[in-house]
Amino acid sequence: MPVNSAQPPGAAGLTQRPRVLSGVQPTGALHLGNWLGAIRNWVDLQSSHDTFFCVVDLHAITVPHEPAQLAEDTLTTAALYLACGIDPQRSTVFVQSHVSAHSELCWLLNCVTPLNWLERMIQFKEKAVKQGSDVSAGLLDYPVLMAADILLYDADRVPVGEDQKQHLELARDIAQQRINSRFGPKGSDGERIPILKVPEPLILREGARVMSLTDGRSKMSKSDPNEGSRITLLDPPELISRKIKRAKTDPQMGLEFGNPERPEADNLLALYALLAGRSREAAAAECAAMGWGTFKPLLAEAAVAALAPLQERYSELRSDPLYLAEVLRQGRERASSVADATLARVRHALGFLSRS
Ligand code: TYM
Repeated sequence: MPVNSAQPPGAAGLTQRPRVLSGVQPTGALHLGNWLGAIRNWVDLQSSHDTFFCVVDLHAITVPHEPAQLAEDTLTTAALYLACGIDPQRSTVFVQSHVSAHSELCWLLNCVTPLNWLERMIQFKEKAVKQGSDVSAGLLDYPVLMAADILLYDADRVPVGEDQKQHLELARDIAQQRINSRFGPKGSDGERIPILKVPEPLILREGARVMSLTDGRSKMSKSDPNEGSRITLLDPPELISRKIKRAKTDPQMGLEFGNPERPEADNLLALYALLAGRSREAAAAECAAMGWGTFKPLLAEAAVAALAPLQERYSELRSDPLYLAEVLRQGRERASSVADATLARVRHALGFLSRS
């Protein structure tokens, strides 16, 4: 497979485009929530934005992890980005830990971020309960590292699912209240000149919150011990059909949106609309009088058909490890040049002795 020989993203012609950064943790196979809530939207942004997508491996070790699995999951995730339609000719695809500026900016931001901002993060509280007494300092610090990821690239927009909204707000507060308004140099008008760009979240309504197949009131998640609760992007067709067959339903006929008593109907109908490429109105009209026994095979068929091209492309990519390694090497180079410049700006503003 040819490796990118085109001009790097961010070079002449693309620099005026708004910048986007996002990432997924390499913890097991990605699921429909990661795809529909995040990666699918990244693909469209490539034509209008200067796009950076990283595999956030440093975040993956904030909960206990298996060393033998980390590198493999990192490659799987990178290959899935490409298989989903991320084009290394147009986007910078890289591994977070390959760009050391992420860890370094995280430390600088740690020292200005109040502890109580972190203690009130919903995801920390939820994950900490699951970890019991063995909660790492890294889990508490997770959103500061995420802020570093975003702020290093002067990202204008960060496309994520609904669950990341609070983390995005924290990144904005750190940039604005803790760096720009404290350390920004004063201009001739006495106003502080910002050091870091304050990013905006980009959360699309559809797909922003894909729910579990076994409980329509909780989010589809990689950490749910019940594998039947999620469809991963690499599940074979029979497994997809089996999981959908076993998905939780209710005793009512007909699928509908927006009935608070029927979260499973809402979730599965939304999935059907997204996977079959129908508008919500068309999907609702099609399935309004349908029983679960008719609907579930239809949903399974739509899921299998939507994932088939992605799975085929994924197999091709994994059979060419040199190509993937080269994509990540080029990604690291491009990402480092942007990230190092931002880090130098922050170091200077905070008063560190120059390295050069
Ligand atoms: P992660 O790996 O948990 O999730 C990756 C992306 O998938 C979205 N997502 C969902 N969307 C809809 N429905 C769901 N059930 C669902 N589950 C997950 C998440 O919102 C996310 O967009 N903290 C980030 C990783 C990260 C990051 C960053 C993101 C680290 N640094 C910088 C953006 C920018 C996370 O949630 O990973």
